[in-house]
Amino acid sequence: MPTRKNLSKLVEKAGVRSPFDLKDYLDRSSREVDRALRKYLPSGKIKPATIHKAMRYSIFAGGKRMRPVLCLAAAEACGGNWEQAMPHACAVECIHTYSLIHDDLPSMDNDDLRRGKLTNHKVYGEAIAVLAGDALLTQAFEIAAHCEPTKRYPLKNVILELTRASGSRELIAGQVADAEAEGGEVIEFKQLKYIHECKTASLLSCSARLGGMSANCTPTQLSALSDFGYHVGLAFQVIDDILDVTQTSEHLGKTAGKDERAQKATYPSLIGLEPSREIAKKLTDKAFKALKPFNQKATALHVIAEYLLKRTH
Ligand code: IPE
Ligand code: IPE
Ligand code: MG
Ligand code: MG
Ligand code: MG
Repeated sequence: MPTRKNLSKLVEKAGVRSPFDLKDYLDRSSREVDRALRKYLPSGKIKPATIHKAMRYSIFAGGKRMRPVLCLAAAEACGGNWEQAMPHACAVECIHTYSLIHDDLPSMDNDDLRRGKLTNHKVYGEAIAVLAGDALLTQAFEIAAHCEPTKRYPLKNVILELTRASGSRELIAGQVADAEAEGGEVIEFKQLKYIHECKTASLLSCSARLGGMSANCTPTQLSALSDFGYHVGLAFQVIDDILDVTQTSEHLGKTAGKDERAQKATYPSLIGLEPSREIAKKLTDKAFKALKPFNQKATALHVIAEYLLKRTH
């Protein structure tokens, strides 16, 4: 089961070799993100306790925290620090977790397992799961209100960044197109790429951009981070599609083989496993290229992108 405790083992298994200690970096950064989220989210004792327990249940179920970690690493690449980027990172994780709770609902992907545990609606019922998703989305914007504005990026830019990535033209657009493509009708490769850009790459790119913005990055750095996040994000969803075919539910912490059963449009179903792997590799190479302007400062981003390509869950 992919809890954060055994993330280190998984990093080792993925064979990422670098003098940079990725295990240590992921451990430390995700621990800090968890600490901040514990502070930002209402306690499970606050009335109405059910909703706050349900929000906390999914947030602390053991996700990989890749979006917030990318946000923190992007801040560092631009000369900033984790502390400045933490509200941005937590806001993104709340949006991501809300999207997963809703993605798992019976009316969407109808999944029973998430992050190695029962899905939110299986534990709290559908009505509370819908509301826990809504509440986490709202919570993200309360947290974003704590972001320190910088010279180049007033708070308005941070809010616009989050609304754009999570709204009806990007994340939601991707979920709509994903739902509409379900059921076995063959779609064009171009449409599949659009689904991946919207449902996954947007929020990953937003995570990297927000990290840069927290560090008052230059316009050139912001555009490099967009480019990096976009390519890492596309690779991330291609790998997610591959893992659905190649891994077990126990290992993934979510139901494997679901995409084929639901006749989802995925890279492996459209072009096959090996060509999908090649595409993920090419996308990751493009992400590496985008990091050129940062030199040594982007070591963490580089190693994380390499890990995301080689990951097994
Ligand atoms: C799952 O994201 C949803 C996709 C966009 C593929 P993650 O694989 O990052 O899920 P967690 O946060 O680790 O649970
Ligand atoms: C989920 O994509 C994307 C979002 C939640 C925005 P998937 O449906 O492929 O994610 P998993 O496989 O359930 O994690
Ligand atoms: Mg889905
Ligand atoms: Mg799903
Ligand atoms: Mg999937």
